[in-house]
Order: sequence, then structure tokens, then C-alpha cells
Amino acid sequence: MIGTDVQHAANLLKAGQLVAIPTETVYGLAANAFDDTAVQAIYKAKGRPQFNPLIIHTNGLHRIEEWGMQVPEKALALANAFSPGPISFVIPKSNQISDLVTAGHEYVAVRIPNHPLCLDLLSRLDFPLAAPSANKSGCISPTTAQHVADQFGEEIPYILEGGPCTIGLESSIVSFANKQIQLLRLGGLAKEKIEAVLNCKLSIEHIQNNENPLSPGLLSRHYAPTTPLYLESSVSPTSLGEPTKIACIRFQQYHPAIPKENQFILSEMGSLDEAAQHLFMAMRLADAGNFNCILAEVFPPHGLGLAINDRLKRAAVAS
Ligand code: TXA
Ligand code: MG
Repeated sequence: MIGTDVQHAANLLKAGQLVAIPTETVYGLAANAFDDTAVQAIYKAKGRPQFNPLIIHTNGLHRIEEWGMQVPEKALALANAFSPGPISFVIPKSNQISDLVTAGHEYVAVRIPNHPLCLDLLSRLDFPLAAPSANKSGCISPTTAQHVADQFGEEIPYILEGGPCTIGLESSIVSFANKQIQLLRLGGLAKEKIEAVLNCKLSIEHIQNNENPLSPGLLSRHYAPTTPLYLESSVSPTSLGEPTKIACIRFQQYHPAIPKENQFILSEMGSLDEAAQHLFMAMRLADAGNFNCILAEVFPPHGLGLAINDRLKRAAVAS
């Protein structure tokens, strides 16, 4: 059921049930992070491999410390600048965080989401919420409550309706494991903004090459529509057959060789933030249409364009 009753959502979570929650990035599939049976139900509902750890969510840094975790100094600087917001921190876990949440790692990913309903919910709970994106493993992350309902139906007792996600891409993940600072996932907070606070450059080569031993969930093929998706940089539209059967995902302007009605323009005014917000919706709509394939533009490689390109590359068929 979809609804806006925050107390009902809180009661279900306290009783060990799963609830889909809105955040500014994407919807999450949440359970009490201190209840292993409830956390196990997340893995089962998503069909998620057990080696892939979960992010825990709460409404304030003080609570992370109350639960026995020390936030490293540089993480604190980032949190002060951007939390609540679209960033997750991988920090040393405390005994209260079970191996099931971290998939056996000594480090846990924590995030303070910036969504009023979600923050209200979190403030009513005396435990953090473990929450991956509320999609079946390998599928596109949901940016509306209806996307979650479409995929899970009655499998989840409640979906908290918080409107369309305003960021539309999953959080950026910064790891402080082993006294190193590493960007593990390009996401809803631009890399340049993170670098400005840390006062250093962050490498993304390991992300682009899929050498990401620290973040086992970031497999090369992910976020995938079922219709084959190609990047404009790797194919020419003429090799894809009949133009009327090709859908396009583009930044600002229509592709000249494809019918306009097949095309999804993510931001007419050329805002990468707006484009990010519309990306997953466009991927879903293109997938649902009667197309043989999807052709996607490569976005400008700065700001959220880097994260958009990352998601498109993972959605693309190998070329
Ligand atoms: O925006 C988001 O981060 C959303 C919303 C719901 O908060 N959540 C989300 O969770 O995207 P998920 O599970 O779909 O993606 C989390 C990623 C996975 O790739 C996982 O491997 C990685 O974070 N991760 C989680 N815990 C980790 C840890 N302790 N160390 C390294 N990577 C971790
Ligand atoms: Mg996910």
C-alpha cells in the first residue's frame, strides 16, 4: 500500500517489517538495521547477493556517535558541509552494527538523507534504517513511490509516499576505510564539491575500470533496462536499424536522425542537475515503449554529468 502516514511506517519498522521510504536521491527499501531478521528480509526481497553491504540511514550525526561509531575528521567536514544530503560515508563500524549489514566488512556506510518525511520518520526511531535502493537487484533505482509499487506490489507492507525524488541519482559514496579517502560511487553530490571541502583531488579511474574491491555492489553492468542501450560514442544510429524503433536519451537537443516523439530530453535549459533528476524516469519510459533499442548521449563530464555517464555506461550493452 502507498500512503503518507509516517507513524504507521514507524510502527511497521519497529515491528521488524520492511517499508519503502522516500529520500532525495532514490527510494529505499528499509528495515531496522539492529534486527538481523528484518535485514535478512531486505536481501531476500531484492534478490540481493549477501556479499553486497547495505547503507544505514539516520537523522543526525550525533546518533551515529551514540551508536558507538567515530566519524573521522574529514568525514565530519564533509558531513558539516553536505549532510543531510546525497552523500554516504564509509566509516569504522561499531559492535552494534551486525555483519549482515556490512557483509562482514569492518566498515559501514552511513547516510543522513535530506527528505522531510524521511527525516521525520528517522526521528521517531531509536535505531538506524538499513536501506538499499528499492528495486530488485540489478534493476533501475526507483524515483517515485509508484516505481516501487510496480516492482514489489504486495511484497512490501507499506510504501511511504514522498513525491518524486529531487536528486534522482543514488548518493555519492566516500570511503574512509584504512585511513584512505576514496570515492566509491559517483552520485548525487558532484565530485568537485566533495573535492573542494576535502581540498584534494579524488581519482575515479578505479570506478571507470570497475576495480572496486571496496564496494562489491558496484558491478559493471547494473541499472539496466531490458531494452538494449547503446552510447552514441560507441555506435552510429544507422547501424541500429529502423529509426522509428530507436528511443533516444539526450541532454538538451533532439538527435537529428531519430523521430522527435521517440526522444527524451533530460533538460531543455541544459542543467545537469535537472538532467540527473529525470534520467531514471527516462530510462524506464524508453524501456516501456515499443523500441528495439535505446541510444543515449554521452553527457558533459563534469558536475552530475560524471554520475549520469557512469549510470549510462553500466546500463549499456558491452560494445
Ligand atoms: O542514495 C542512496 O545511497 C540510496 C538511498 C536509498 O539512500 N541507497 C542506495 O543503496 O543506493 P544501494 O544498496 O542500492 O547501494 C549502496 C552501495 C552498494 O554498491 C554497496 O556495495 C555500497 O553502497 N556499500 C554499502 N555499504 C558499504 C560498505 N560498508 N563498504 C563499501 N561499500 C558499501
Ligand atoms: Mg541500488
